[in-house]
Amino acid sequence: MDVLERAHELEREGQHIIHLEIGEPDFPTPQIICEGAVKAIQDGLTHYTHSLGILELREAICEHYSEKYGVAFTPDQIVITSGTSPALFMIFSALLEAGDEIIISNPHYPCYPNFAKFLGASPAFVNVYEEDGFQYRPEGIKKRLGSRSKAILINSPSNPTGNLLAPDRMEKIADMGPYIISDEIYHGLVYEEKEHCILEFTDRAFVLNGFSKAYAMTGWRLGYIVSPVDFVRPLQKIQQNFFISAGSVSQWAGLTALRRAGEDVERMRSIYNERRKYMIQRLRDLGFGLAVEPAGAFYMLVNAKHLSDDSYELAFEILEKAGVGVSPGIDFGQNAEGYLRFSYANSLENIKEGLNRIEDFLKNR
Ligand SMILES: Cc1ncc(COP(=O)(O)O)c(C=O)c1O
Repeated sequence: MDVLERAHELEREGQHIIHLEIGEPDFPTPQIICEGAVKAIQDGLTHYTHSLGILELREAICEHYSEKYGVAFTPDQIVITSGTSPALFMIFSALLEAGDEIIISNPHYPCYPNFAKFLGASPAFVNVYEEDGFQYRPEGIKKRLGSRSKAILINSPSNPTGNLLAPDRMEKIADMGPYIISDEIYHGLVYEEKEHCILEFTDRAFVLNGFSKAYAMTGWRLGYIVSPVDFVRPLQKIQQNFFISAGSVSQWAGLTALRRAGEDVERMRSIYNERRKYMIQRLRDLGFGLAVEPAGAFYMLVNAKHLSDDSYELAFEILEKAGVGVSPGIDFGQNAEGYLRFSYANSLENIKEGLNRIEDFLKNR
């Protein structure tokens, strides 16, 4: 956020900045989804919905998971939420008591430990390493498990690394005892590999997903939880008290997304893939370390330790001297210090220009 704020300040002073720190799709929401929303408004579908969400959307989610992963659950195991962020908060609230621990990888999406701490629980960090593609080592988790461990959080493909967790590791982690919380928000944005749903390996898991990334719908605030049966009622009570229901129009838009936006998702995915390949090649040519090619989301976390041990300072230097915004690794945990996160949620033209500027900056450094 500090980098972004400084970038905006520089832009106000008239400088041209290339944004490679971005965490949301640069595509507009596909037209067909917008039309679904307009129709819902015109049809007067603008009131509170069932607290679990409209049945049509929950049925479409069941079908989507059944077709894509061969997993079965019922619409009454789904809670539609106003984005995956509230979904995370709801699951953490239902599962964690003060003093409990939750296993979180380091690096990780920065909100995870914040939610845990807010509830009086503690993140138990497990380091993941570049040479492993930042995947969990199941034995690393095992060492951190104790009597207070209530859940293991996985995020594949991951923010900030863009890497996937291999199915054999997922299977081992699924069998360790605590509930698994699987943040599957970047599913659908996977290139030349295949993503797996945690429910292929265990029923003792919460799936968390949303429409922000694959459907370019960040502003619609729409996500969902697939919950074990026992937890549906507690989650529903949290929903009823805090949120009442997710936005009605967004839910109808989400239904259109699942039923009719397949081609649009495919189009965006193939453009992301082209950018991904270009960025991997260029960053490696520029001397940044990337042991395993990231195959998902729209991020890559690259090793910049040869340039600086202080990723925050380095990100500012790149912003001020090259006019390019990148995210410092330290934002994502102590174990990502010395790394930078690059996002390819920007046009190929901008990515090329940004990397050319970094090339010049490095030559003159
Ligand atoms: C890993 C991860 N989980 C959850 C979210 C939150 O997404 P939403 O827009 O659905 O709240 C993000 C957003 O960047 C994310 O990167």
